[in-house]
Amino acid sequence: CGIVGYIGYREAYPIVIKGLKRLEYRGYDSAGVMLYDGKDLKLSKTKGKVVDLETKAAKEITTNGTIGIGHTRWATHGIPNDVNSHPHVSNSGDLVIIHNGIIENYAPLKIELIKRGYVFHSDTDTEVLVNLIEEIQINEKLKLGKAVQVALNQVVGAYAIAVFDKKNPDEIVVARLGSPLAIGIGEGEYFIASDASPFIEYTQNAVYLEDGEMANIRLHKPIKVRKIQDDSLVDPYIQELKMNLEQIEKGGYEHFMLKEIYEQPSVIKDTYRGRLHANEGIIQMSGVEDNLEKFMNAERIIIIACGTSWHAGLVAEYVFEEFTRIPVEVEYASEFRYRNPIITAKDVVIAISQSGETADTMAAIKLAKEKGAFVYGVCNVVGSSISRETHAGSHTHAGPEIGVASTKAFTTQITVLTMIALRLAKAKGTMSNTDFHRYLLELELIPEKVKEALDTNDKAKEIAAVFKNSNNCLYLGRGYNFPVALEGALKLKEISYIHAEGYPAAEMKHGPIALIDKYMPVVVIAPKLGHYDKIVSNIQEIKSRSGIIIAVVTKGDTQVRELADYVIEIPETSDALSPLITTIPLQLLSYHIAVMRGCNVDQPRNLAKSVTVE
Ligand code: G6P
Repeated sequence: CGIVGYIGYREAYPIVIKGLKRLEYRGYDSAGVMLYDGKDLKLSKTKGKVVDLETKAAKEITTNGTIGIGHTRWATHGIPNDVNSHPHVSNSGDLVIIHNGIIENYAPLKIELIKRGYVFHSDTDTEVLVNLIEEIQINEKLKLGKAVQVALNQVVGAYAIAVFDKKNPDEIVVARLGSPLAIGIGEGEYFIASDASPFIEYTQNAVYLEDGEMANIRLHKPIKVRKIQDDSLVDPYIQELKMNLEQIEKGGYEHFMLKEIYEQPSVIKDTYRGRLHANEGIIQMSGVEDNLEKFMNAERIIIIACGTSWHAGLVAEYVFEEFTRIPVEVEYASEFRYRNPIITAKDVVIAISQSGETADTMAAIKLAKEKGAFVYGVCNVVGSSISRETHAGSHTHAGPEIGVASTKAFTTQITVLTMIALRLAKAKGTMSNTDFHRYLLELELIPEKVKEALDTNDKAKEIAAVFKNSNNCLYLGRGYNFPVALEGALKLKEISYIHAEGYPAAEMKHGPIALIDKYMPVVVIAPKLGHYDKIVSNIQEIKSRSGIIIAVVTKGDTQVRELADYVIEIPETSDALSPLITTIPLQLLSYHIAVMRGCNVDQPRNLAKSVTVE
């Protein structure tokens, strides 16, 4: 979920609405707003997107007021409907709350409150929290901030909240545990948001609350930050933001996803800038340099991540094992944490996350740290929870990724992980100097080759038009390109809702081959590398069962071209770096299929970009 708030001298409504639109990547199944105009509380909420909220609010409330909070939801407790949407109001009608996260012990708290006469209108855990705050406030005669603090010490779960009290209307109280919360500091005004994007055009100064902190935000007073648990005061660290508006706007592209696909040549360059000096034969990343001993002594590397980041981890497994000869395991963060994993101080754990906020990944990191492992983060969002929780790390520098389906985050993650592997290979002597230099030069050429791979756009569009009505699709790859097959299938599923599966090409004959008939498109990633001959045989197996082949091949390829129904040509590169190139046409293919099917590419149904619940 995304939360936004404003307290100051401007009209709050347009700020909150625009802010919510920027945060829709965090969830978009319902939205709501509360405004205060000095006299009345005005509330409007609805199932649907922020644009639906605008339509509804225009009909049911006057939208003036210089204090406002808003919410865009990704449902956890209770289906997305008007009643379950945030903000939620306490029984007295005075307290209003917006909440991102989960209150795990809401059920017993709710029973207790019902016994005391509270009435609930929604199925949400959030409505329980706002009434708990009210009960404490009334019973113990506390001011809002104190009552929030007492209440939060009784709840188990994760949250970023903002609470407003009509009885004391020059203040908003915020708190965070497990879900992000940024406070923008202007002159005579404050902004609240799940990330800084809603307020960057107003101020470049922000305080990011740490887990377990809360803040009183009062007009014309400095913000007061304290620890929820013991009430100790914290000196807020005001950070200067480096984000600009252009980065979070579409810049002429029809969708964020397309813009982000096209940004890949430049962001991959940003990722290696200052770290890779190919001519001098140097690769260095401060996080790795500072902890070289830890990496050198690692008996094993465990990679934890979710979704697309997990696929980047799988590519890294191939790269690390090949380059460094360190055994690697790649785990879904959610599985890792719940199976009492065997971890020791000799393990290095690498956590990969675009947002740096994924709850499962965060929990897995905490577990690994408890067991004594050194945890290295690969995150895109600077200042994110995961980048702060890990012992050290490298940012991917992809810039804000707004399209829910991850594209540039994936290729920059692979770039960072490949650089780490190369650096360690050099330190460990597991790669010859010649190969090391060759890879460095090769890596430097990747942005140009990605640019060339983007030229497959027209071809991808043409193929998309043929297959846009398919019900199923199979993606096959081998070696380094097996994870690319998984990622290609995930992209198609996520944004076009076509069922797709990725498989190791050879494994196909142990099951999926049964699915193949003349209606089944099979995307085969078959660059002239590694197991090329083997994959040619796999293609023949599909052909002889009437399957339709869409092949991604190296420019100039003739062998696969003869067998395939459609070919997409990409530039040549080495096997280990090929996922950076082979991924591109697959992103474009799913993009065009989704557009042609009329799907909401940037905000696919049921998904959220940043999943801050477990
Ligand atoms: C969500 C997103 C995916 C993303 C995954 C992991 O499911 O929809 O695109 O890959 O979370 O997110 P992270 O921010 O940790 O990389």
